[in-house]
Amino acid sequence: MSDSNAHPESGSHAIAATAQLTGILRRVATLGDILDRSVGDATHPLRIQIDRFDSPVHAVIDGRPTTLFGTNSYLGLNFDPRCIAAAETALREWGTGSTASRVASGNQVGHTNLERTIAAYYGRPDAIVFSTGFMANLGAICGLAAEGDLILYDAFCHASIIDACRASGAAFKPFRHNDPADLARMLDEATIPPSRILVVLEGLYSVWGDLGAVKDLAEVAKARGALVLVDEAHGLGLYGETGRGVTQAQGAEHLVDAVVGTFSKSVGVIGGYCVTSHPALKALRFLARAYLYTASLPPAVVASARTAIEIIGSEPELRANVWRKAEKFCVGVKALGYGLCAAPGPVGAIKMRGLVQGLNFWRDLLDRGIYVNILVPPATPGGEVLLRFSVSAAHTDEDVDRFLSVLGELSVEARTA
Ligand SMILES: Cc1ncc(COP(=O)(O)O)c(C=O)c1O
Repeated sequence: MSDSNAHPESGSHAIAATAQLTGILRRVATLGDILDRSVGDATHPLRIQIDRFDSPVHAVIDGRPTTLFGTNSYLGLNFDPRCIAAAETALREWGTGSTASRVASGNQVGHTNLERTIAAYYGRPDAIVFSTGFMANLGAICGLAAEGDLILYDAFCHASIIDACRASGAAFKPFRHNDPADLARMLDEATIPPSRILVVLEGLYSVWGDLGAVKDLAEVAKARGALVLVDEAHGLGLYGETGRGVTQAQGAEHLVDAVVGTFSKSVGVIGGYCVTSHPALKALRFLARAYLYTASLPPAVVASARTAIEIIGSEPELRANVWRKAEKFCVGVKALGYGLCAAPGPVGAIKMRGLVQGLNFWRDLLDRGIYVNILVPPATPGGEVLLRFSVSAAHTDEDVDRFLSVLGELSVEARTA
């Protein structure tokens, strides 16, 4: 670690200072010291810094050209010339930021047009745009469920869903991942009417890359009269005839009351949304605190998101492109003897034997110019150490071949070690 990267208060100094603190500051400072000792090194996976981008998936890290196989830019739209042009025009005409909430002078024609575009894309009457996907879950779930209600959510749901459950005031419980029988049991055992129960699940679970059993779970919920919300953060752009996600791919859209999504993955910017067919849910605009009490998205982001959603809806060849590469990659990975956590797809995870092997393997990949995400407990189901990869439409066939060839080299090393 170079001196310039050292935390100014790391080391024995910090520990001495921590010992003099009390209460909240003591707890936080102690955690800070522990974190500094475990992830303080600039080469730690949590501290890797990208110095330059040459394309959505080609970057320079620590002076080395690196191919990114851990980005959520599944379609490469963050560098699409049409998205960039839309953002540039909006930036010049509308300035850098909206500087206010949607309900207090931050509601520009761009925001309304983006919502219309999303609603039309989903064939639903209304869409609400939030400033992040996290806030879309927070706003939609807290706007819908309140004290006296019950939220049943898939045990593998994202942190934003769990935080939303906590903040809602409703009771909340997880059902076993993708298990319709467990959901049915919990719905049948509930002591409140099903109409007061919200079931929350995801389309594509981004840790293992496995699909949500959206149709089976939604059928169970609807048969009993509960509401269903699906988070399609990762499914958008990758699944379904027009890219609306796993819910569309499984023919389950008619069973789902609200879909939440994000602009931070396939759409290539930042922001989130909720689409619904229920006129009653219009009130979300006044109930969702994550919508009311925060600034609206910057105009350039809004313009770029709208362009990207139009592209996703009208250019199925982008999806075909990413799928062709993803299938080639996954077949190659399996042929090399690595274990995948789920069926082949653009998002997946390779199981590591443990923390030390996983970290070494991750570093070996990085040393060879391949960047993936390493996921460790408690962020992983079952306490596993995983290398999470994603294949993008922006990868070339040579990128995929090279990643496979590096995995080939490393599998030989792993066997001879
Ligand atoms: C399933 C899921 N929902 C919501 C989010 C939050 O999205 P955002 O990054 O737009 O806040 C994420 C982000 O990783 C996610 O994976």
